[in-house]
Amino acid sequence: MPVHLFGQTADMDPIMAVAAEHNLAVIEDAAQSISSTYKSRKAGSIGTVGCFSFFPSKNLGGIGDGGMVVTNDEELFNRLFIMRNHGSKPKYYHKYIGGNFRLDPIQAAVLLVKLPYLDEWSAKRRANAAYYDKKFAGTVVQTPYVRPDCVTIYNQYVIRVPRRDELLAHLKAGGIGCEVYYPVPMHLQECFGYLGYAEGDFPVSEKAAAEVMAIPVYPELTDEMKDFVAETILSFLDGN
Ligand SMILES: Cc1ncc(COP(=O)(O)O)c(C=O)c1O
Repeated sequence: MPVHLFGQTADMDPIMAVAAEHNLAVIEDAAQSISSTYKSRKAGSIGTVGCFSFFPSKNLGGIGDGGMVVTNDEELFNRLFIMRNHGSKPKYYHKYIGGNFRLDPIQAAVLLVKLPYLDEWSAKRRANAAYYDKKFAGTVVQTPYVRPDCVTIYNQYVIRVPRRDELLAHLKAGGIGCEVYYPVPMHLQECFGYLGYAEGDFPVSEKAAAEVMAIPVYPELTDEMKDFVAETILSFLDGN
């Protein structure tokens, strides 16, 4: 289950090769990467199944919860179609134990209105990211890596910085919305405690969790706002 985190697809070719070798299904988590591409292929269209989220904070967000599953496998499609509506087919004859996974029509209506703007919004996010990339070039701020064969949609623009927590508090105090995705790596989550992992077991993840933070990248950001964000970060890191 590769997760196309922050708007960029995972490196899918090696994943698909391992899956083919072992006859495994690949479920793409494209919740943060709708319409991003990997070698010209859209996120969610490469694996067996692609999953999308329309949670309001996503690039294509509804006004409440919603999501979508896509597949080219007809048998799987039919199964999912039935599962979505309490597992019944025909109506009230339950072939499987399903659930209510229908997309609310209100959400569908909102999403249909927003969908035509998605590419334009993604382009604006990329332009904002390019602006930050330029501003932070040659500084202590580490900017996101984008693979040359990927087009990312920047659900998040995530930087790595020294003294992350202090900077985060400073930006928040200055009215700049920012967030850590994600503060606790999987192996240290309380719910996975039973697996027996401890601090130090995955040092790369732990270091990332301590250094990353997302800064505003939404399409409506003006140059003035981006400048303010970048300058606030740079003056804090230089001056302290
Ligand atoms: C990478 C990723 N996967 C899955 C989800 C879950 O999506 P939803 O909240 O619509 O179930 C989210 C959103 O929170 C996400 O960012």
